[in-house]
Amino acid sequence: MTVLIAYGSRRGGTAGLAEMIGAELVAQGLPADVLPADTVTSVDDYQAVVLAGSLYINRWHPDARKFARRLSEGLRTRPVWLVSSGPLDDSAATSVLPPVPQVARVSRNVGARGCVTFGGRLTPDARGFVAHSMAKTRAGDWRDPAQVKAFATEVADVLRPSRAGAES
Ligand SMILES: Cc1cc2nc3c(=O)[nH]c(=O)nc-3n(C[C@H](O)[C@H](O)[C@H](O)COP(=O)(O)O)c2cc1C
Repeated sequence: MTVLIAYGSRRGGTAGLAEMIGAELVAQGLPADVLPADTVTSVDDYQAVVLAGSLYINRWHPDARKFARRLSEGLRTRPVWLVSSGPLDDSAATSVLPPVPQVARVSRNVGARGCVTFGGRLTPDARGFVAHSMAKTRAGDWRDPAQVKAFATEVADVLRPSRAGAES
């Protein structure tokens, strides 16, 4: 069965991260669908879910939060990982960052297997008053392909035995 990577993203950085996770899972032999969280109405067709959301002022993207609330029943009965993105510096690559309180709460509610925070991205042409002025000094891309690969490998390692079990 397929792994769902659902994401909430304001400026595309987390969407790109979700695509990277999906591509890595596929490369490791696990079929994956990557979809905006607000378009998903059920997780019934999925073996497992990775739910990703960008962080703004220490809050998880509303589409990720609403997804977790709306589909909590389905999430409680399958493996789930929660992804946040992320700091505009190398802190996510050099240390293990704890989830923000909202993500920690979702994690407890759905019994997530893990929470991970990846570095973020802010483009120099970011729109919006605050983002635009932040971009003058903090634009850059801290999403780390090696860290994404390590995370996807962890997910694939958990899911492969159950897939084998389901097929035998
Ligand atoms: C106004 C603003 C507030 C932000 N607040 C946080 C924050 O609280 N924690 C954090 O880790 N990153 C924060 N960031 C960085 C974003 O999470 C990062 O740019 C992320 O990759 C954005 O994802 P998106 O492109 O999917 O929207 C902030 C960025 C902006 C522009």
